[in-house]
Amino acid sequence: MPKVAIDGVVHETQPNELLIDLINRTGGSVPHVCYHPQLGPVQTCDTCMVEENGRLLRACAIGVADGMTISTKSAKASAAQVEAFDRILSNHMLYCTVCDNNNGNCTVHNTTKLLAISHQRIPFRSKPYEVDNTNPFYRYDPDQCILCGRCVEACQNVEVNETLSINWEDPNPRVLWDGGSTIGESSCVSCGHCVTVCPCNALMEKSMLGHAGFLTCLRKSALSGMIDVVKGVEPETGYGAILQISEAEEAMREHRIRKTKTVCTYCGVGCSFDVWTKDRHILKVAPEHGPANGISTCVKGKFGWGHINNEDRLTTPLIREEGKFRQASWDEALALVAHKLSELKTKSGPDSIAFISSSKCTNEESYLMQKLARAVIGTNNVDNCSRYCQSPATMGLFRTVGYGGDSGSISDMEKADLVLIVGSNTAESHPVIATRVKSSHKLDGQKLIVSDLREHEMARRADLFLHPRPGTDLAWLSAISRYLLDNGVADTKFLDQWANGLAEYRKSLEPFTMEAAARISGVPEETLKTVAQMISEAERMCILWAMGVTQHSQGSDTSTAISNLLLITGNYMRPGTGAYPLRGHNNVQGASDHGAMPNMLPGYQSVDDPEVRQRFETGWKVKLPSAKGLDNHQMVEAIHEGKLNGMYLIGEEMSIVDSNANYVGDAFAKLEFFVVQDIFFSNTCRYADVVLPGAPSLEKEGTFTSTERRIQRLYQVLEPLEGARPDWEITQEVANRLGAGWQYQHPSEIMDEIASLTPMFAGVNYERLAGYRCLQWPVAADGTDEPLLYTKRFAFPDGKARLFPVSWIGPTDQPDSEFDLHLNNGRLLEHFHEGNLTYRTEGIREKTPDTFVEVSPELAEERGIQSGTWVQLVSRYGQVRVRALVTDRVQGRELYMPMNSLESPVNRLTSSHTDPVTNTPAYKETSVHLNVLPEVGESPLPRINSRFGHPTPQNGVEVERKWKRPDYAAPGNGLVQLQTKK
Ligand code: SF4
Ligand code: SF4
Ligand code: SF4
Ligand code: FES
Repeated sequence: MPKVAIDGVVHETQPNELLIDLINRTGGSVPHVCYHPQLGPVQTCDTCMVEENGRLLRACAIGVADGMTISTKSAKASAAQVEAFDRILSNHMLYCTVCDNNNGNCTVHNTTKLLAISHQRIPFRSKPYEVDNTNPFYRYDPDQCILCGRCVEACQNVEVNETLSINWEDPNPRVLWDGGSTIGESSCVSCGHCVTVCPCNALMEKSMLGHAGFLTCLRKSALSGMIDVVKGVEPETGYGAILQISEAEEAMREHRIRKTKTVCTYCGVGCSFDVWTKDRHILKVAPEHGPANGISTCVKGKFGWGHINNEDRLTTPLIREEGKFRQASWDEALALVAHKLSELKTKSGPDSIAFISSSKCTNEESYLMQKLARAVIGTNNVDNCSRYCQSPATMGLFRTVGYGGDSGSISDMEKADLVLIVGSNTAESHPVIATRVKSSHKLDGQKLIVSDLREHEMARRADLFLHPRPGTDLAWLSAISRYLLDNGVADTKFLDQWANGLAEYRKSLEPFTMEAAARISGVPEETLKTVAQMISEAERMCILWAMGVTQHSQGSDTSTAISNLLLITGNYMRPGTGAYPLRGHNNVQGASDHGAMPNMLPGYQSVDDPEVRQRFETGWKVKLPSAKGLDNHQMVEAIHEGKLNGMYLIGEEMSIVDSNANYVGDAFAKLEFFVVQDIFFSNTCRYADVVLPGAPSLEKEGTFTSTERRIQRLYQVLEPLEGARPDWEITQEVANRLGAGWQYQHPSEIMDEIASLTPMFAGVNYERLAGYRCLQWPVAADGTDEPLLYTKRFAFPDGKARLFPVSWIGPTDQPDSEFDLHLNNGRLLEHFHEGNLTYRTEGIREKTPDTFVEVSPELAEERGIQSGTWVQLVSRYGQVRVRALVTDRVQGRELYMPMNSLESPVNRLTSSHTDPVTNTPAYKETSVHLNVLPEVGESPLPRINSRFGHPTPQNGVEVERKWKRPDYAAPGNGLVQLQTKK
């Protein structure tokens, strides 16, 4: 290892280490205001000057080299550091005592202290710009902005929304949104990256302002007065005394601000962060150490917590009496639940009752739910909402490689030479994963192919965008496989060593000529050949897919075709390769992993395997049912048929999010006894007999498992709202009133039990998951986990993968003369799913108040539709009334409707057709008729939605432009301007 001497002490270095990182790692100290390890060198602040052989270097921008002799404290280096920082202070008024950012982590404050700055030599100069308050979640104060450019770097190169820049050539540079728009009307997606990395108070969460400090809630005039007083005494006292006061105030804050680690409650990316709270007020979300996300979040994780303290939270159990709900005590409600479930079990047998667990709840809660079903009631009728989205992807992977989870990690997606995205609006549905792909594509030459019906952000960024006909991905994917095999560019060495079934698979590909695929999918043969060529040229390919694939009648087969393609190109078993079905909910992976499935006990252990059952029977001290239970689609049918009479459902808005929602609602109305546990009175609660108030993620402990199979702990941020209870406690109460005798005191004890019964989680325990530590299953008893699966073998007895033949059947519910338009549906960036949580955040409502239907410009012209025109959509199953949004994201006779609506849910239109292998509804195969209504309203998306902004892509902060300013001179003498960017 190269060795470097710093201030006389020799240190061993690490590969590709920056000098600043070495100094920090070895306990040295050099100021560094613009440097942030997750942003890399930004080089705007010049405070990190060090001396080497008489020359000055920026420590943040130089890699270590053997034999370097560095001084961080020489007179020359120190003078340059102070001079640089002086320039920074000329852009920033120090008023720490009355600043909401005075929380011990303000870089400007801490650097003032580190450099023992006593007076500001270059006076503060106000900038001629107003504070910008136009974003609902954060504000920008140009006067406090030190022009470090961290925010620009984060927006341009980490989030890659490309909204921010600095006008370096202007006499008064500042941060610009879309080159000069207000924040509110810009392309800003409110992801919060910029606010998170801002080293001072120039960008602040509005939820912090007036709340974090003891004196910051004063009126503006009083605050200004105090700032004037402080500034007035500074020439005499110097900063030392002033900083001491602000540090005393900062220390007082430590006692009342709590910082608690949690995991995001929305999508399956698994972002984790500290939540800062003062009593029940959420001050801010601070992402930094999350293994999946680092500094990244999207608007929902950063700002979407309005549901926590919302006045509509359920805090009292409700019992239906004579058609109306009345409040009840917990004791009464639980007694009724136990009595009715027990009565039904005696009267109609255990299989007359079914259980739906929540993919928003923790692993431990899903485990208890399936244990309640199996061990206490005696039925395998238990499922979760992965049935609605992910089961087909899981099946495709079970068939071919053995484990039903992502084969690698987000870091593998970053490393790939080629990312192929099929049927996933990643930038909106899995925003933080999208940032990694966008960044590798922008900065590292990664190639991107996107196949989708809509030209969404990822499609616009792609090197190649395919727009196949709805539901035809299987055909073109299989044709690519055949083409690669036929042309001798498949990875035969890999196949020989690692895959079974090649001959049969090749035979199954016979119908999939390029010509046939082009005919079926509508994608020209030449384009398909380009795809094949790009795949064959890529050394490492990842395929990402989501509900655009799985929510089709051939969702399992198309997922299988994807995995087959990865196998024949040898794109498994190496970093930067693999299969990535992107999980929708925060814990949809974990709910299935922990046995909320009708055919599997926890850890995907089959209910009909006597050895497995024996192990659980011994552990649980009961006899277990062996016949596969009903999945949630079959449950609805069974209710209609009178075979299922009771249901206990947790945290699932099933009457809105299941397909053919009218039919599902009719079923619920027929239930003899229905318990719904939720945090709000959802639409599904309307059908309940008993409603139990559960607790949201911030009010409980447990673990979630993200799309990367990453198990992470969430800690309790807040006590449950009075009257509400953590869901695991409620389930335990129900079980015990049915005679179970469970005695879990804490979710960690549940996890210990899971580990003892489930080989896949053998080494999982709360100590190994402490803080930001995490494990990616499978986890061996010694705690070894597998961030990249299949490094030594595939998960089949002989260690080999299986090529699995599939054939082309084609989608159901095709357009005809009556239902002449294809209706696609899915998520929006700002809202999660039906919106039960996100509509409770005011800023999200402001930006995205309602659902709509996207109509192509061609169709709009043909039918006389404009944005805001009310239309009625009628399918074979129902109808909704909704406003149109005319956009070129959709083409021709294809419509798109986001699912964020309780009033006009798209699932009133979808059918009961399913993928026969998994019973996942074919949500994306819906044909409709469109009636234009006479009313024309406002556009359903207001001007302040980020879609209407105009991003300004550039190469990060572009500090070279600052260096070219006539008034710029590097501080100190002798800076060697040899550093280049990353
Ligand atoms: S998109 Fe908006 S919130 Fe996100 S980094 Fe850019 S400017 Fe900041
Ligand atoms: S707003 Fe941006 S440029 Fe200004 S101080 Fe904050 S991170 Fe630096
Ligand atoms: S919704 Fe997903 S991407 Fe957004 S913060 Fe939460 S986990 Fe991260
Ligand atoms: S830390 Fe700002 S230039 Fe190095």
